[in-house]
Formats: sequence, structure tokens, C-alpha cells
Amino acid sequence: ENNNNSALRMVLIGPPGAGKGTQAPNLVNKFGAYHLSTGDMLRAQVSQGTPLGAEAKKIMDKGGLVSDEIMVGMIKNELSTNPVCQKSGFILDGFPRTIPQAEKLDEMLQDLKTPLQKAVELKVDDELLVSRITGRLIHPASGRSYHKMFNPPKQDMKDDVTGEPLIQRSDDNAEALKKRLDSYHKQTEPIVDYYKKKNIWAGIDAAQNPTKVWGDIIKCLGF
Ligand code: AP5
Repeated sequence: ENNNNSALRMVLIGPPGAGKGTQAPNLVNKFGAYHLSTGDMLRAQVSQGTPLGAEAKKIMDKGGLVSDEIMVGMIKNELSTNPVCQKSGFILDGFPRTIPQAEKLDEMLQDLKTPLQKAVELKVDDELLVSRITGRLIHPASGRSYHKMFNPPKQDMKDDVTGEPLIQRSDDNAEALKKRLDSYHKQTEPIVDYYKKKNIWAGIDAAQNPTKVWGDIIKCLGF
């Protein structure tokens, strides 16, 4: 039994472009916890050309949600076998995205005897998200995100850490974004109440600049 009960175990909730992928690396740096991004995991399957990746790409490009069964399986595998998650905790980014996923997560963590400590909601109005998403640049290998105007890389179109090229995501267009926002409000937002009832929810104004958002995250975690 090597589970560390004081390790950070949290969920980041927020609409597309809220800043989950921007803030998660800060949490990794500060706490040493593992960043589990289901979007990054699915995109890795797409770039590896797996059958699951091919199926997922169709759904992602349309802004829909991949099935609960597939997503729960992916996360269960990581939580039960990834040594960093067990020892140093995790930051879930993009999961859970439905009530059934949230319930399954609780079951898994109960089995591992390591309950969730915090569910942090990054709150931003839909109007702000369009410019964030259409200006986003990402480094596919690490999942790091930048923004053409709000968070530009040091060198044009290159990752700050590796110098590798940055790309735009195929679902980062106005049409897919509309559907992603729709999926968020209908299917994901109900998990906010789920975590409020469990008394582990904290809401943060994510329309502020990234440094202020980070400061508020640290505060709500009790540091
Ligand atoms: P996923 O990859 O999770 O996408 P998403 O939820 O739409 O979130 P994003 O990555 O778009 O946003 P973010 O909050 O990380 O924003 P970022 O920090 O980059 O999922 C993709 C797809 O996979 C889903 O649509 C679905 O199909 C599928 N999927 C994934 N998980 C699933 C699940 N559990 N169940 C079912 N299906 C699943 O920021 C955005 C931009 O804004 C960046 O350019 C950034 O530099 C900039 N920015 C960030 N913060 C600020 C700020 N404070 N001020 C100004 N600019 C900022």
C-alpha cells in the first residue's frame, strides 16, 4: 500500500477555453501531482492512429462527448496503475464530464481509499471563450497551451520548453466550439452541483488574467 493520503487529488472543471490546460501545469510544478487530461489522452490516441483514436476524432471534431464507458476505462487504468498518481496525487482536467463519470470516479477513489479533496470550477462567460479558443496554440506532445495574443510563446509558433512547433487543434473552430459549449452546459455543468453537495467545490473567476486565476486557485486550495 503506497497511497499517499496527503497528496493532491483534485478536479478542474470549466468550459472549453476556461484555462484548465493553462493552469494544470502550474499545479504540477507546485505539487508534483500528475496531470490527467482526458482530451490530451484522446488526442494522443488520434496521433498514434489507433481505432479508438479514429472513433474519438469524429466525435471531438463535432464537439460531442466520447462515451462514458471509454472515458471511465481510461481514467480507471491511470488511477490504478500510474505510480505518480498514487504517490503524488493527480489533477483531473476534462474528467468527469457527466454525472455518471463523476459517480464512477467516486467509486474508483473509494476503492483506492483516496477520496477527492477539491473540485475547482473555472468560471467564464461564453462570449470570452470564442477569442480564447480561436487564438489558441498547443504543443501536442506536452499539451501545453499558448495564445496568439493573451499568452504568446517566447518564439513565434514554437514551444517554450522544447522549441518544437505549435499547432491549432482541429476542434478549435467557431462551429465545433458552439457544440462544445452546448455539451458543457447540458452535460457537464450538472457536476458543479454534485460537488457542491459534497462540500468540495470552489468557484473561481477565470475571466481574470492567468496570474490572478492561479493566485485564486492556490488560495482556494488553502495555501
Ligand atoms: P478537452 O481537451 O478537455 O477540451 P475542452 O474541455 O474543450 O477544454 P479546452 O482544452 O478547450 O480548454 P482549456 O480549459 O484547457 O483551455 P486552455 O487552458 O487551453 O476535450 C476535447 C474533446 O475530447 C471534448 O470535446 C470531447 O469530445 C472529448 N473528451 C475529453 N474528455 C472527455 C470526457 N471525460 N468524456 C467525454 N468526452 C471527452 O485555454 C484556452 C486559451 O485561452 C489558450 O490559448 C490560453 O493561452 C488562453 N487563456 C487561458 N487562460 C487565460 C486567461 N486567464 N486569460 C486570457 N487567456 C487565457
